[in-house]
Amino acid sequence: MSKFFKILVCSALLSIGLDAGGVDFEIESSSDYGGQDLSCPLFFCWKDKVYEIESSVFKPVLKFMEKLLKEANFSGDEGQVEVLRDFFKDEEIRSAIFVGLGEKHEQDFENAETLRRAICQALLKARDLGLGELVLEQKLLDDFKLKPQEFACQVGICGTLAEYKFEKFKQKKAEDKKDWSCTVKIVVDDDAMNETLSGGQRGITIGKAVNWARNLCDLPPNIATPPYIAQQAKEMAEECGLEYKVFSATEGKEMGMGGFWAVQSGSEFEGQFIVLEYKCGKPGAKKVALVGKGVTFDSGGVSLKPWNHMTNMKYDMCGAAAVMGTAKAIATLKPEVDVVVCAPMVENMPGGGSYRQDDILTHYNGKSSEILNTDAEGRLILADALSYANLEYKPDLIIDLATLTGACLYGLGHFYSAVMTNNDKLADKLVEHGKKTGEWLWKMPMHRFYNKAVESKVADVANIGSPTYYAGSITAGKFLEHFIGDTAWAHLDIAGTAMDVPDCAFSKGLSTGVGVRLLVDFLSDMSVQN
Ligand code: BES
Ligand code: MN
Ligand code: ZN
Repeated sequence: MSKFFKILVCSALLSIGLDAGGVDFEIESSSDYGGQDLSCPLFFCWKDKVYEIESSVFKPVLKFMEKLLKEANFSGDEGQVEVLRDFFKDEEIRSAIFVGLGEKHEQDFENAETLRRAICQALLKARDLGLGELVLEQKLLDDFKLKPQEFACQVGICGTLAEYKFEKFKQKKAEDKKDWSCTVKIVVDDDAMNETLSGGQRGITIGKAVNWARNLCDLPPNIATPPYIAQQAKEMAEECGLEYKVFSATEGKEMGMGGFWAVQSGSEFEGQFIVLEYKCGKPGAKKVALVGKGVTFDSGGVSLKPWNHMTNMKYDMCGAAAVMGTAKAIATLKPEVDVVVCAPMVENMPGGGSYRQDDILTHYNGKSSEILNTDAEGRLILADALSYANLEYKPDLIIDLATLTGACLYGLGHFYSAVMTNNDKLADKLVEHGKKTGEWLWKMPMHRFYNKAVESKVADVANIGSPTYYAGSITAGKFLEHFIGDTAWAHLDIAGTAMDVPDCAFSKGLSTGVGVRLLVDFLSDMSVQN
């Protein structure tokens, strides 16, 4: 993996270099700060408030800077980026980057996302221009109500996410700047040094886990088959010290997983059910089960999708990638909670042996489902995975992530994932963590009036909602509700947020790894006491 961005935390006393690869720590003397001729201060400017910048760097030249920015028509509009190059010819500071933030919002979470986007923009600009160093002063961040630690964490995340590329299959890579790297210096007060450094490190750990998940999502379905993903998960688990086990669809069938078996039955690649476990080692710790939909390619099965709906269906395993990426991050961050991750991996293909409309399947908890459409396959593998996680691990709560319904994409588009729940407290908590991390959630109703939509004449539940009830995302949630018993549960439909998000700060048309940042933050907030 490339290593473009480094984070360096400075104080009046010393600066500590943190390598993006997490390999070495360097401790340097503080005299280095500002003394390196590559340093490039970074400024975030609210609209029309450009000249309220209060920086020690610029005090002596404020008037001059104003003049240059005016000439460049820089007013601080959202998305505006201006670079003043060769700014002080004879001084150590050669360039400065100004990023516009637009109008300030009333809600903190809006401003936080604006800041995240601005950080990504600045870093991508630095990459374009080959700038070797960016300097950020803590006092420029007062408006964001972020502690230095949280800010550094966001810089770590954004830097790592911004460097993600998916060019394995291109003979000619977009740009060859392999030697280039950029150090982000965060200048904070002495007493905030250590926490800032650990925040930066934490951000890089999270960002790497997101990128690990993104790579699995972006890989084509002829390569990222269920056995391939099981192998990747195994290697990751061994590297991070997670417990790993896997069983095949044949074994799953014997265990009673009718849905897991059926969905993969038309594929040449045998389904693989991946289980990862993280144990915090604290007595009395809560246990969370994370379940992710892992359809490596969704052709629709015998209820075949038209071609234009089939492209991009390699992304139908983003839920599985996200929960496994979360496991990778927490293996390092070590929150006080036990976590079990279940990722049923299957390919949904038509074939002589594939399952069909009118089939009745029996799931792990004994409930049966009537198949009305083999393209509603995600809920069938989740039915087994949710009941398996619930019955075998008896978790305190279950969260599942799935690219489950096209209806979710129509309903919410790309900027919010849908959350459906049997426990409002859990969902509200997730919504809060969503705001904090920039992975926003929108709560959907789960009123009992929707229950009837998935009633079946011949089985316990039907695998698609009756068309008269509409609400395709909610009826999918209602199907899943049959498989979680009384356990607190939240279902996140990430069909719109997992890939192809327009105007995304850090991803151009690729996967986003949505869910990892949210879940890591959520799990980190759980401790033995509460
Ligand atoms: N994987 C799809 C949902 C999807 C669609 C995800 C578009 C991302 C983008 C899912 O398996 C599916 O096919 N759902 C059907 C359900 C229907 C048959 C009840 C859908 O949404 O059309
Ligand atoms: Mn489908
Ligand atoms: Zn699907």
